[in-house]
Amino acid sequence: MPSGDRVPVAVRYEDVRALLASPHSSRNLRIPGLPRLVSGIGIDDDPDALINQDPPEHTRYRRIMHGTFTPRQIEPWRPRIAKIAQDLLDGLGEDFDLVQEYALRLPGQVICLMLGVPMGHYKRFVRWTDMFLTTSTATEQARYEGYTEFMAYAAELVAQHRAEPGEDLIDLLIQARDEDDRLSEGELVNTVFSLITAGYETTASMIARGVFRLLLHPGQWAELVADPALTATAVEEILRFDGPPASAFMRRMTKDTDLPSGGSLSAGTVVMPNLNAANHDPRAFPEPGRFDIHRFTDHPPNPHVAFGYGAHRCLAASLARVELTEAIRALVTQRPTLRLISSPESVTWTDGLVYRPVAMHVTTGG
Ligand code: HEM
Repeated sequence: MPSGDRVPVAVRYEDVRALLASPHSSRNLRIPGLPRLVSGIGIDDDPDALINQDPPEHTRYRRIMHGTFTPRQIEPWRPRIAKIAQDLLDGLGEDFDLVQEYALRLPGQVICLMLGVPMGHYKRFVRWTDMFLTTSTATEQARYEGYTEFMAYAAELVAQHRAEPGEDLIDLLIQARDEDDRLSEGELVNTVFSLITAGYETTASMIARGVFRLLLHPGQWAELVADPALTATAVEEILRFDGPPASAFMRRMTKDTDLPSGGSLSAGTVVMPNLNAANHDPRAFPEPGRFDIHRFTDHPPNPHVAFGYGAHRCLAASLARVELTEAIRALVTQRPTLRLISSPESVTWTDGLVYRPVAMHVTTGG
């Protein structure tokens, strides 16, 4: 792990799914001495974050929020998300940095739109998520300060929406209920925090990695240009091929567990399920190293696990899919001649938990 701690890593598709679905894999890693993803305070330490809950608390949380992120709830946002993508591209010249000027801005602006905060606030999310997710640059003290500032911001947002209810995502979360059960104030604040940390850089880096991959395959890019309706299924292959290398979060086994591959983990073991490896397991995806935008159209294989699996499966997978699809659709329709300015080898990559090009200079000129 980036912290220097060593843990076993599950790499096979069936093992990863079995681990993530197991009632004996816990997200409570808040026991002194357990391995850590990053040293110092990190996501694993937050006792209130959704991702760190086990049943019954986790089941309750998800039940209350069920309905907030269903495709039916998300679909009405699609035209607004497409408009953000279009406006961003309208503001760019022939040559631009696809990462800084597009991939990072789009999800930042989407989350601002959904939370009902000014578009410019996304820059604060960048600073906080950078600090909080980083594994190498920020000091422990800086990370702690970023976290505290971020939580104060989320608390203020919730208080504002309580005082003046509207129709933003926060209002939906305030109203969300499971019969008589609702989210407490602390849970609401934490949910806003989780949505920003889980939703911003993950989506931005996925857009950046996805466009990079498509530009390495000009034939497939041309197919999308000729038929933009293919974008939604192309996005599934992008998610499989270039899914989150930061992987799922670690799990602590609460009971001795046998894995489908024949391996076993004893109670107390902390294990990392590697989603990206699972998505490249040849037993689940024939010729996994072949990037093929038609993979999920012609003969749908096993579903990929880029959004995880089991109880903690990405709460906002439908939103992420809409963002990715609209981001790429806007590029293929408005910038059909898009290509990298320099060689793919010259692109430098971040070394944080979320892996993406630092910058990606592209052109649409002749
Ligand atoms: C392409 C973009 C995204 C990818 C690849 C992704 C991936 C994932 C994965 C793999 C998990 C499960 C982690 C685990 O089980 O250890 C997860 C959980 C989660 N994601 Fe996403 N995500 C994306 C976008 C988003 C967005 C846009 C939001 C919110 C606006 C979001 C909110 C969450 C939340 C709240 C959880 C925790 C769910 C729980 O613990 O029950 N994600 N995501």
